Amino acid sequence: MVTAGRAKRTKAVPVASMAQAVAGRGVIICCGSGGVGKTTTAAALAVAAVHRQGGRVLVLTIDPARRLATALGMESVGNAETRVMLGKGMPAGAELWVAMLDTSASWDDLVTRHAPDAATAQRILVNPLYRNITQRFVQSHDYIALERLYELERSGRYDLIIIDTPPSRHALDFLDAPARMADFFSSALLRWITLPYRVGGERAGRLGYLAAKPFYQVADRILGSQFLKDIAEFFLLFQSMYEGFVDRSNAVAALLHDERTTFAVITTTEPAPLHEAEFLLAELAKRKLRRGALVLNRVLPAEIADPAAVALARRIEAQGAPKSSGTVAQRRVIEAMARTHLRFAALAEHEATARRRLAADTEVLVAIAEQPGDITDLASLARLGDMLWPR
Ligand SMILES: Nc1ncnc2c1ncn2[C@@H]1O[C@H](COP(=O)(O)OP(=O)(O)O)[C@@H](O)[C@H]1O
Ligand SMILES: [Mg+2]
Repeated sequence: MVTAGRAKRTKAVPVASMAQAVAGRGVIICCGSGGVGKTTTAAALAVAAVHRQGGRVLVLTIDPARRLATALGMESVGNAETRVMLGKGMPAGAELWVAMLDTSASWDDLVTRHAPDAATAQRILVNPLYRNITQRFVQSHDYIALERLYELERSGRYDLIIIDTPPSRHALDFLDAPARMADFFSSALLRWITLPYRVGGERAGRLGYLAAKPFYQVADRILGSQFLKDIAEFFLLFQSMYEGFVDRSNAVAALLHDERTTFAVITTTEPAPLHEAEFLLAELAKRKLRRGALVLNRVLPAEIADPAAVALARRIEAQGAPKSSGTVAQRRVIEAMARTHLRFAALAEHEATARRRLAADTEVLVAIAEQPGDITDLASLARLGDMLWPR
């Protein structure tokens, strides 16, 4: 990166490339605040990776904008992996695949896999609370996304999986999801809710439960016994999957720490997301998770900071547009453009300062320029990919 002449010289920081961040890795987790471009970047990175290093690359995307989904050839929602057809000139054996996370279907798969038998699985799936709870469960999306990642990684079908992360309140939620899931299954809350059923057994259930605690008597009157029974049955059945779930959550958590896994933190240069990204980088370090790359998305195009253009804009601002440059109206437009250019140049200066600061604690720092239009096809994803990972 070219730094402005006036800028104080900080210690030179060797900035490595995306190729180095990706080398030897099998999983890249794209995380960051909501709306910064995680989904877009994950897709662009997948396109770049398959072009640069070939192999079978899968991008697991979450809630992509409709047009992005179409660009990737995802016409229908669902958990199935779909192959994206690429143009000519690809490395031998290069394949790009895409899958979208379907939370409901993934939960059903998980229940079917962990239930002690088919009948129990069926009872869980038809329990009126099941869909509701798994949809609303805090971090249900986070957990299930990681769970799906784990499944895909273990299948051995892909050389590289790039995963987008769900829009959470805190990007950190994603990292904590497996531990929270394991905690939940061994929580006092779960034991407490299911207590009367466990004490009385199925047949004696209602008697045992009425006798258990005054709380249940009140709850029974207010909520109705069917509702309470549904709740208790749900959690009781869920608990039958306890061991499978806890083992699984631990395995999923271990995948985050695997040496083949790395993280890409995505951010824009706006203060709030940037702050969150710096926090996230620090948290990754604290948890001994690999900080693969920091992606600054939607930066100003490089030509804004071009010193010659800035000098010219300053001259026009000070002296007005030269008479020879056109009619009075035309000169007004030129002067307005010069002022606008200077405003953007000031923003670019802010961006450059942020970049210098970030470069000090990130090995791989790459930027994607703001695109004039929507990102709607493979060609525009490839263009973003070129910025992330130049040829
Ligand atoms: N570099 C960029 N230039 C222009 N628009 C962008 C860029 N990156 C992302 N966007 C747009 O910003 C919006 C949010 O991006 P998205 O990838 O869905 O963010 P996230 O997944 O983090 O919520 C989308 O409409 C996307 O097209
Ligand atoms: Mg997204």
